[in-house]
Amino acid sequence: MGAVIIVDALWGDSGKGKVCAHLAVRDKAPLAVRAGVGTNAGASVTLDDGTLVRARQLPTGWINPETTVAVGSGVLVDPEVFAAEVDRFGLAGRALVDGRCALIAPEHVEAERADAHLAATVGSTCTGNGAARADFVLRRARQARDEPDLAPYVTDVARRVNDVARDDLVLVEGSQGTLLSLAFSDEYPYTTSDNCTAAAAMDDVGLNWRLVQDVLMVVKALPTRVGAGPLPYELSEAEVLRRGIAEYGVVTGRPRRKAGRLDRELLAYAAMLNGPTQIALTFCDHVDPAMRGASDPAAITAPVRELIAQVEQDTGAPVVLLDTGPRLRDMIDLR
Ligand code: IMP
Repeated sequence: MGAVIIVDALWGDSGKGKVCAHLAVRDKAPLAVRAGVGTNAGASVTLDDGTLVRARQLPTGWINPETTVAVGSGVLVDPEVFAAEVDRFGLAGRALVDGRCALIAPEHVEAERADAHLAATVGSTCTGNGAARADFVLRRARQARDEPDLAPYVTDVARRVNDVARDDLVLVEGSQGTLLSLAFSDEYPYTTSDNCTAAAAMDDVGLNWRLVQDVLMVVKALPTRVGAGPLPYELSEAEVLRRGIAEYGVVTGRPRRKAGRLDRELLAYAAMLNGPTQIALTFCDHVDPAMRGASDPAAITAPVRELIAQVEQDTGAPVVLLDTGPRLRDMIDLR
């Protein structure tokens, strides 16, 4: 046992949240912890009864009623978003936040919205994350332990993560994507406000590297990008609509720019940075509509088989999960 670090290879929006939910249920994880930047993230998963779940702050592992969910101390916390999710998902008894998390205040959101460089040039989500991190770095941020409303949830998440990972499974859910990393993107300033690699995710939750069991890198079969910055093999809006594969951001509702194929060099670079031991290949139904809703390995079609071989070659790791649609059960688990 130990921790499984779930990170995105490219520009995010690849279904890390759904992968985390799937593993929490299938592998009965007692603890799921959010790593990554903060509330700029948006995970969505459709439950098998049709309910659409959207989360920005808490890991989606709560979908297993036995799983405790937590936010690591390197993640920015917006107390209103945290409280709304605890309330909406009914998590009062099993949600935790590290007291050392820096807080996002309404002024941070306002400052980003008023900043033309961020809003117009970078295409930021303007959710206050960069401004809050700047205050944290300047050592003038308020922390979760300073906010009375968060008191019932505050704990030392790093201690909990390491204690649980010693003899059981911990899921660490990263956010954004490797190529949006502040210090590893070649596309600065078209980045987010922190790194999004496996090492960053470990650091965000205070996980000792000896307790890492796997790095599960999520690869979106047809990559997307929201906001500005280059996207190799970008499809025209008309082509995206014609193929019926349009997507919209969870946080901002913006249409996602979509590529017609993976960039193999960029994928290999992301694998170099993350050292994955496993791959989840998501949105397979966007490559071949015949895969939609499949959960049986016998349903894997020739084009997706070819893609699996290519991705395994480029990343050096086996594809263990294939996501085939928005519902939790639209997943082929090859483990
Ligand atoms: P920020 O992190 O909100 O300032 O946004 C900076 C850049 O990262 C913009 O291009 C955003 O669209 C992108 N970004 C931030 N969060 C996400 C995410 O969760 N998924 C995909 N792109 C994101």
